[in-house]
Amino acid sequence: MSDTSGVSVVLESESTSALAEAISLLLPQLSKSSTEIDENALSMIMLQNGVDLFTARLDGKIVGTLTLVTDRLLTGLRSFIEDVVVDSSCRGKGVGESLVRSGLERAEYRGAKTVDLTSRPDREAANRLYLRCGFELRKTNIYRFTIK
Ligand SMILES: CC(C)(COP(=O)(O)OP(=O)(O)OC[C@H]1O[C@@H](n2cnc3c(N)ncnc32)[C@H](O)[C@@H]1OP(=O)(O)O)[C@@H](O)C(=O)NCCC(=O)NCCS
Repeated sequence: MSDTSGVSVVLESESTSALAEAISLLLPQLSKSSTEIDENALSMIMLQNGVDLFTARLDGKIVGTLTLVTDRLLTGLRSFIEDVVVDSSCRGKGVGESLVRSGLERAEYRGAKTVDLTSRPDREAANRLYLRCGFELRKTNIYRFTIK
C-alpha cells in the first residue's frame, strides 16, 4: 500500500533472487559485519513461524527493510523489531517511519502484547524515529554472550 509520500510498504510472502539482491545492498548500511544473503538463505528466514519481512519501495525500487519477529513466550505473545535499514540516498523521506508503522500494525494483527526493539544511542535518527512512533525508552541492560 502506498502512502501520501509515495512510499509503499510490502509484507513479502516469498523469497526471490531480486529480493535477496535488494536486501543484500541494504545490509552493509545496517552492520559492517553483515554478509550478502542469497535467495535460499532468505527463504529459510522468511519461512520461520512468526517472521514477517517488510520492504519499502520508492518509485518501485526497494529502499528499505524491517523484520518483525513474534514469539509465544511464557509471559505472552511478544513481538520484536529487527534489522531496520533505509538506503542512505532515501533517508529523511519517511520511509523508516512507514516501515515501523507497518511492523506495529502487523504485531497488533498477530495479537502481540508488546513490541520491543534495541538501538544503540549513537544511532540518533533511529532513536528519534522510534520515539516518534510511540516507543518508550526502557531502563534495562542488554547483555550478549558471543559463542566462539
Ligand atoms: C534509522 C533509519 C532507518 C531511518 O530511516 P528514514 O527513512 O530516514 O526515517 P524517516 O525519514 O522516517 O526519519 C528520519 C529522521 O532523519 C531526518 N533526516 C532528514 N534528512 C535526512 C537524511 N538525509 N539522512 C538521515 N536522516 C535525515 C528526518 O527528518 C527524520 O528526523 P526527525 O526524527 O527529527 O523527524 C535510517 O536512518 C537508517 O537506515 N540508518 C542506518 C541503519 C540504522 O541505524 N538502523 C536502525 C537500527 S536500530
